[in-house]
Amino acid sequence: MQISDILSVVQSEFQAVDRLIHEQLASRVPLVEKIADYIVSSGGKRIRPLLVLLTSRALQRSDAEAVKLATVIEFLHTATLLHDDVVDTSDMRRGNPTANAKWGNAPSVLVGDFLYSRAFQMMVELESLPVMKILSDATCVIAEGEVLQLTNVKNPDITEQQYRDVIHGKTAMLFEASTHATAALYQCSDEQQQALQRYGTELGMAFQLIDDVLDYSGDAAELGKNVGDDLAEGKPTLPLIHAMAHGNDEQRQLIRRAIRRGGLEQMDDVIRIVQACGSLDYTRQQAQTCADNAKQQLELLPDSEAKTALAALADVAVMRTH
Ligand code: IPE
Ligand code: IPE
Ligand code: MG
Ligand code: MG
Repeated sequence: MQISDILSVVQSEFQAVDRLIHEQLASRVPLVEKIADYIVSSGGKRIRPLLVLLTSRALQRSDAEAVKLATVIEFLHTATLLHDDVVDTSDMRRGNPTANAKWGNAPSVLVGDFLYSRAFQMMVELESLPVMKILSDATCVIAEGEVLQLTNVKNPDITEQQYRDVIHGKTAMLFEASTHATAALYQCSDEQQQALQRYGTELGMAFQLIDDVLDYSGDAAELGKNVGDDLAEGKPTLPLIHAMAHGNDEQRQLIRRAIRRGGLEQMDDVIRIVQACGSLDYTRQQAQTCADNAKQQLELLPDSEAKTALAALADVAVMRTH
């Protein structure tokens, strides 16, 4: 199954999400609407709403509530992107200049807050206390993940486990919340809720591991964002952690220095070393393991096209080039 086949399983709901997203951007303050519309209209893969819609289909429940939940999740995601590009000083997102590059940090942060708040307004309309608990807990963990990452910037001594904590918080948590909240919305059994939650966690981990590979090996035009941002910021991601553990002394020292200093002067050397140490392959393998774990969780679901699509999505997350 290709991504287009996966999308076709929930095509009409997916289009409904797109309509609801645009509807819900309305604000009486023109700049809010302008910036929110700018980032939303520049696209994005919409993988998290897709996850909600496929999960609800796999649970044989697909309705306006699922469309609303999917929209809530995409708003939360978009809010984190607006904030993330400020803290990462990124200037390209979804193939366009970032909102912070175009309007500055202040409006980006504030419109991010608006999107968070609008997401919570819509969430309340779902009238599900379990969903509210899952999503409010998730947004706390995401914020903590970003702060934990911040405290490890330029730290070459971070362990693989600490790195995993960071990516679980900043990325996997929202994937996990997408599937878990859908299962909770439909009051599935605890067993099914846990399996779907775990599917989301593993998928999200795979997704971020690949994001971190692509930051060294991807194509900026295809990705729609700059490559090399992680090294420029001194972010110690798994490719670097692996290379420091497996390279020779000289290679280790070079990477340690590059992390401590940040910047891109040593990008070519670092790329050479992570390739020589097999660190990108190692990170990809770790992502594949997570994707395989994700697929295993689906056993509890009845066979359906949506279940097959969820399994395929785990592989797409690993094979993706953008
Ligand atoms: C970007 O997420 C942030 C990460 C968690 C890596 P996506 O890659 O899903 O971004 P869009 O929505 O498709 O632009
Ligand atoms: C994204 O982390 C996580 C969130 C947006 C919360 P990154 O900083 O690695 O994502 P990109 O590379 O900017 O999309
Ligand atoms: Mg970033
Ligand atoms: Mg990244």
